Amino acid sequence: MTKATVLFIAHAPSPNTLALRDAACVSITRDSDVRLITKSPFDCTHEDALAADGIIIGTTENIGAMAGATKDFFDRSYNQLLDVTAGKPVAVYIRAGLDGTGTKLGVSAIITGLRWRLVADPLILKGEWQDDFTDAAAELALTLAAGVELGLY
Ligand SMILES: Cc1cc2nc3c(=O)[nH]c(=O)nc-3n(C[C@H](O)[C@H](O)[C@H](O)COP(=O)(O)O)c2cc1C
Repeated sequence: MTKATVLFIAHAPSPNTLALRDAACVSITRDSDVRLITKSPFDCTHEDALAADGIIIGTTENIGAMAGATKDFFDRSYNQLLDVTAGKPVAVYIRAGLDGTGTKLGVSAIITGLRWRLVADPLILKGEWQDDFTDAAAELALTLAAGVELGLY
């Protein structure tokens, strides 16, 4: 049987965000049996999203909004994904130095527009870095992957 595909659109411009990305990848690879494709948003195309059974978005907050890298993916892909990807399960985590609210609003608006299905409220990892942020990102990522694998969504 063909494995379900999870696309992980991970913006990871710093050691901490790389740790989030890597923890999510390790968790999915160890505890689920999906085909995991991890890419920088700059390298993602609408074809990647079309081919995925579920999507994880990891982004930073910069200047009160989602990272430009993450927005660039949506800028290039939104129209091609509109109407043809409704119901796509998606999970979102946001690394924010201070806040995260603007990013949550912006990403949620795009997801609503595309009619994707958030499997959990966007996870905001904000403030001074805490070592257990990696566990939270890993748990969210595995929730999405395991659900996709089991056909729950
Ligand atoms: C140019 C710039 C703008 C930023 N703007 C925000 C912001 O508006 N809100 C916020 O919560 N954090 C902001 N940050 C902090 C980043 O979200 C944070 O540095 C990033 O998520 C990486 O996390 P780390 O510093 O723990 O590696 C900004 C960082 C940079 C470099």
